[in-house]
Amino acid sequence: MASDQGASLSAGGYSVGRLLISEDDLQARIRALGEEITSDYAGRAPLLVGVLKGAFMFMSDLSRAIDLPVEFDFMAVSSYGNSTRSSGVVRIVKDLDIDLADRDVIIVEDIIDSGLTLSYLRRNLLARNPASLEVCALLVRENHQVDETILRYEGFRVPSDFLVGYGLDVNERFRNLPDIRVATAVSDAVGDGGAV
Ligand code: IMP
Ligand code: MG
Repeated sequence: MASDQGASLSAGGYSVGRLLISEDDLQARIRALGEEITSDYAGRAPLLVGVLKGAFMFMSDLSRAIDLPVEFDFMAVSSYGNSTRSSGVVRIVKDLDIDLADRDVIIVEDIIDSGLTLSYLRRNLLARNPASLEVCALLVRENHQVDETILRYEGFRVPSDFLVGYGLDVNERFRNLPDIRVATAVSDAVGDGGAV
């Protein structure tokens, strides 16, 4: 089974363990989000703004669940943190190509952890005068620090475990798992105990 492929994987000081959200549950929830967006934006052509790299897989499936003439753009940001925690100081590595003025923009994010990245992005994109700006996040931490009212569309609430799969990585690995799993730091015995 594809959903078992992560069970024995390890890389970059982490190994992939417990299944948190199955492929079927992900796909069912994404279809429902797509239907909600389709009805909310009826008659409009929303611009999906994906935050690279983590959101690429979610963006792909979500967009196919939206029955509207959507357009796509991507941003890449890098946060001055270590590999598992963002600092909130965000640098735009790749900016958008499309002008946001008068567009109905939906930010598509993989996971809202502290929410610092999202807060920065919202401020930055709002300054470009879109007609509307909403957020669609696949995963939202139970202990995030953003104002609930800005989380318009969300897939699942998740605990504070470090997660991989379906776009989410640790040290660039595991993004291609079809489900969401918990990653755990492997012991010093493996020789890479410096992982955070
Ligand atoms: P925030 O600024 O703390 O909300 O961090 C958001 C970003 O950190 C996400 O877009 C991810 O790229 C990354 N991130 C946070 N938690 C995880 C995780 O559990 N696995 C992989 N990446 C994560
Ligand atoms: Mg991200």
